[in-house]
Amino acid sequence: MNAPASLPFSTESGALPIVGFGTSPLTGGMSPDIVVAALKAGYRHIDTGRKYGTEAAVGDGMRKSGVPRQDIFLTTKVSHEHLAPGDFARSVDASLAALKLDYIDLLLIHWPSPDIDLSETMPALAKAKQQGKARHIGVANFNIPLLDKAVEICPEPLVALQAEYHPYLDQTKLLAAARRHQLVFIAYCPLGRGRLFDDPVLNAIAKARGRSVAQIALRWLMQQNVAPIPFSSNPQRIADNFNVFDFELSDDEMARIAALKRADGRVANPVGRVPGGWD
Ligand SMILES: NC(=O)c1ccc[n+]([C@@H]2O[C@H](COP(=O)([O-])OP(=O)(O)OC[C@H]3O[C@@H](n4cnc5c(N)ncnc54)[C@H](OP(=O)(O)O)[C@@H]3O)[C@@H](O)[C@H]2O)c1
Repeated sequence: MNAPASLPFSTESGALPIVGFGTSPLTGGMSPDIVVAALKAGYRHIDTGRKYGTEAAVGDGMRKSGVPRQDIFLTTKVSHEHLAPGDFARSVDASLAALKLDYIDLLLIHWPSPDIDLSETMPALAKAKQQGKARHIGVANFNIPLLDKAVEICPEPLVALQAEYHPYLDQTKLLAAARRHQLVFIAYCPLGRGRLFDDPVLNAIAKARGRSVAQIALRWLMQQNVAPIPFSSNPQRIADNFNVFDFELSDDEMARIAALKRADGRVANPVGRVPGGWD
């Protein structure tokens, strides 16, 4: 049940560092120094999105850190309002300009749109790759039917699915669909946006092992070959969340954590944004 340091893409060369750093602050903006702190702590996968307003800070932080560009895996996303082909291309160019970078490592569709058909958007996503603006492409917040369709019609291979996943949310079916399509599963809100911290089972396991609840939750995802992208605004917690490579949860602990799933476990739930619902 050990977890690898990175998850290889099956359809083409490349790999995703298994622990990433989220950059969607819950309130206010974000300083480049937070990204510097994450890179200093060892993260090499940084997740942003056009919608977050943090691309400029992420790009500045990457340069300020002194870590070579090629050592960093940078993800950004095109928001659901911009999925028509012309808008899509403009959004990608705006991301590159804000980041002050000449390529994105992973470009994702942030949310599916109820208004624009995938037959229009998937070629636009593939085009960003064909033009060298994105090295890899994928989707976020797609349900299983949308994922099946996206994989089928995309002119270029998809490598990743990003979706909410943590111990309170059962993602068994979506994870199986991602595996079926040989996509790396990236888990957002891996700490349940803070909701996990008072959980008695997680606290008991954390205490028994001398680790933090956050480390236990992240490790649980990693041991399923899932890539968590926790956010923190605090340099000590940023480092704590990356210090997850030197212990292993037992099968019994993995099962006790999986049993914490709840019907109301979803944290990010913008109603109506996923055509057809979540499943
Ligand atoms: N694709 C999508 O639609 C989508 C949606 C949501 C999120 N995301 C991505 O996923 C990333 C992570 O999700 P998230 O930021 O919503 O939630 P999260 O990572 O589950 O939780 C972040 C919260 O946990 C706290 N925290 C972090 N580490 C902690 C620790 N060790 N101990 C105690 N508290 C801790 C943080 O507070 P402090 O800052 O005070 O530490 C923050 O309030 C986002 O930043 C974004 O990049 C993607």
